[in-house]
Amino acid sequence: MSNRMMVTGAGSGLGREIAVRWAREGWRLALCDLDEARLQETLRLVQAAGGEGFIRRCDVRDYSQLTALAEACQSQFDGLDVLVNNAGVASGGFFSELSLEDWDWQLSINLMGVVKGCKAFLPLIQQSQGRVINVASMAALMQGPGMSNYNVAKAGVVALSESLLVELRGLGVRVHVLCPSFFQTNLLDSFRGPTPEMKAAVGKLLESSPISAADIADYLYQQVLVEAFMILPHEAGRQAWEGKRRNPEPLYAEMAYMADRMRAKAAG
Ligand SMILES: NC(=O)c1ccc[n+]([C@@H]2O[C@H](COP(=O)([O-])OP(=O)(O)OC[C@H]3O[C@@H](n4cnc5c(N)ncnc54)[C@H](O)[C@@H]3O)[C@@H](O)[C@H]2O)c1
Repeated sequence: MSNRMMVTGAGSGLGREIAVRWAREGWRLALCDLDEARLQETLRLVQAAGGEGFIRRCDVRDYSQLTALAEACQSQFDGLDVLVNNAGVASGGFFSELSLEDWDWQLSINLMGVVKGCKAFLPLIQQSQGRVINVASMAALMQGPGMSNYNVAKAGVVALSESLLVELRGLGVRVHVLCPSFFQTNLLDSFRGPTPEMKAAVGKLLESSPISAADIADYLYQQVLVEAFMILPHEAGRQAWEGKRRNPEPLYAEMAYMADRMRAKAAG
């Protein structure tokens, strides 16, 4: 029976809801995050939902912390069936305003954190012929203005997931990549960018979502059951992606217009 999952960024938002959704099916959860108090609360919710597990403070930028966590999964669960690389941070700002430090910070968490998670846990996942679920974003597919470092990190997560999908299929490992549009979580707390206006704009977008983190976790659960690879939980996101693949030019025009408006607003 497969019932052992590890979730990064499980102290908040989507990571917490994914843990709780799988806990409802009686799964055992290894929960990691930077914030231990929030992890305690997630563990409480997991137990209330019918699951069990353990928590571990772990920074996904630190490969040695991830390999130590993989060892803890081996000793406490005797292996692992599903790896969820969810931890992430928000950023924004026009390319001209972003510093190289902004790029390093964003890529070190949202892209390299996923690469390191896969590297550290793949031996366990290969052993169980389990699954990898990587959390990317619609940003990976749409490349909206004013967030190039986030777009690139998330596009990298999609590319990594697609690479693993084909490399690992023959070994019995399944791969999924989740691409949500904006939804309300604590993501804004981690926001890093050159201007407060950009942070406020991202905050408005998070509030605008018609669906919650719990809805997205449930959609993910259902789509994993039917073996979907690229999982787009927002209806508007699915439509936009279909439209872009058919003909990207109208979308580029809309995005360029959005960029002009953002620049004009920032100029006052
Ligand atoms: N909220 C959205 O609108 C949205 C949209 C698309 C994709 N996503 C992605 O969903 C994922 C979850 O984000 P969320 O919206 O639930 O945000 P959130 O801030 O509520 O949760 C993210 C969690 O990741 C943790 N984290 C951050 N850096 C970490 C690190 N270095 N090591 C370990 N843990 C770390 C945080 O402490 C936090 O608990 C992220 O990858 C995010 O990019 C979010």
